[in-house]
Amino acid sequence: MSEPLSRTVVVLAAGEGKRMKSSLPKVLHPLLGRTLLGHVLSAAEPLAAQRTMVVVGHGADQVRAQLAEVAPEAVAVHQAEQLGTGHAVRIALEAAPEATGTVVVLNGDVPLLRPETVTALVAAHEGERAAATVLAAEVPDPTGLGRIVRDAAGRLEQIVEQRDATPAQLAVREINAGIYAFDLGRLRDVLGKLSTDNDQGEEYLTDVFGLLVSAGEPVAVHLAADHTETLGCNDRVELAALRRMLRDRVNAGWMRAGVSLLDPETTWIDVTVALDRDAVVDQNTQLCGGSVVGSGALVGPDVTLVDTVVGAGATVLRSHAVGAEIGPGASVGPYAYLRPAARLAEKAKVGTFVEVKNSEIGAGSKVPHLTYVGDATIGEQSNIGAASVFVNYDGVKKHRTVIGSHARTGADNMFVAPVEVGDGAYTAAGSVIIEDVPAGAMGVARARQRNIEGWVRKRRPGTAAAEAAERAVQGASSQVPPASEGEAIHGAGE
Ligand code: UD1
Ligand code: CA
Repeated sequence: MSEPLSRTVVVLAAGEGKRMKSSLPKVLHPLLGRTLLGHVLSAAEPLAAQRTMVVVGHGADQVRAQLAEVAPEAVAVHQAEQLGTGHAVRIALEAAPEATGTVVVLNGDVPLLRPETVTALVAAHEGERAAATVLAAEVPDPTGLGRIVRDAAGRLEQIVEQRDATPAQLAVREINAGIYAFDLGRLRDVLGKLSTDNDQGEEYLTDVFGLLVSAGEPVAVHLAADHTETLGCNDRVELAALRRMLRDRVNAGWMRAGVSLLDPETTWIDVTVALDRDAVVDQNTQLCGGSVVGSGALVGPDVTLVDTVVGAGATVLRSHAVGAEIGPGASVGPYAYLRPAARLAEKAKVGTFVEVKNSEIGAGSKVPHLTYVGDATIGEQSNIGAASVFVNYDGVKKHRTVIGSHARTGADNMFVAPVEVGDGAYTAAGSVIIEDVPAGAMGVARARQRNIEGWVRKRRPGTAAAEAAERAVQGASSQVPPASEGEAIHGAGE
């Protein structure tokens, strides 16, 4: 076996993408977890290239920033003016004079391309020792794309752009996907010979094929089995169509892997998400970023998870979570909002209209209703009463609240941080807890109730309330032995 060829990847991403009508360069538009460029780079990943170069131009700074994030080893090559795809590849290769072997060129706007397809293209190219191999596809509508023009024997003759094509060539439905493998040495030789003698006055990379054929060099066509992989994206309508196709592909993959998607058409799973077998995803659900859903967990309906980990057997209903950890068997929602570093241990519960941020909720602990938990640590098996607020912010700094294990805090409490409630402690409903409550103590922090008897009769005479009160007083006095004036109102029921 001969030594494997050195490989260079060149991604073309200098264009503006005018029809996107966006301040974001086209290749940076997001599509289910990656930018268009991110998808293309990831399709090229299995090639294990020695060198990855990205030709940048429009929005170069933004594209460089994206590269630093997703492909820090990639080298950006600046193309100040977009003089054509051939020009773009030429300047990329001029920036890597030492490179030899195979160069794989990919348009930056072909996000549905599968890694297997790129690998197969390169294997075919290297196996045949071709000078150049183009990825082609048979498409229902070739409008706007370069056509694969073959000779009578069926051999590739040239690639012709739509705007330069004859009527006979326009009828061809076999198109150039904009993905190629080249022998680097032979490509360098012909890149210098590209003319700008075409409708756009650009150096076309596609003209390399005609030049190589004329020089008697072997060129090849590799046909993609699934033409949707080669679809580019020119405007936001096409982007939305690509998003639906990718959704269907991703969803089919998860269903085949043992995940139940109850309504795949309204389930949007980023390519970066992972799900375990027997996870169930109900309708109108988005799973984004680095989210992970464990085995047997039920997520949805109406859930958005961003970078959130859901443990096995947990339930998340009609909720929004960002950067949260939901432990095994835990229960979230309906209508909960989990913010970054909300961490629920095993079997913890965060219920309805509850917001949690940067807090640990211990195993089996419950925050069932209408509560804000910010910057808190709650131990195990504790219960937080409804409508409580962890008052974490003094206007300048954030402070922590610590609640122990097996604590029972009353409804409508304010925990004014920093403050601590010990293990097994209780707090009374309606308390504003500003001092620590020791373990096992009952913290009461509220004014004692005072009733002003007869207030409504005196201050709101003639109102429906006064009449209702009057009837209640008379009803009570006809049922029980008459009492003295002062005792009559609250005498019964004590
Ligand atoms: C190109 C092909 C066409 C093919 C189609 C597939 C050429 C001449 N034509 O056409 O045969 O069917 O792709 O989608 O190559 N770019 C640069 N610098 C430039 C010009 C373009 O980086 O100077 C980048 C663009 O940002 C884009 C890619 O190259 O990512 C393709 O350029 P584009 O102008 O979209 O080429 P098409 O006309 O689509
Ligand atoms: Ca294009």
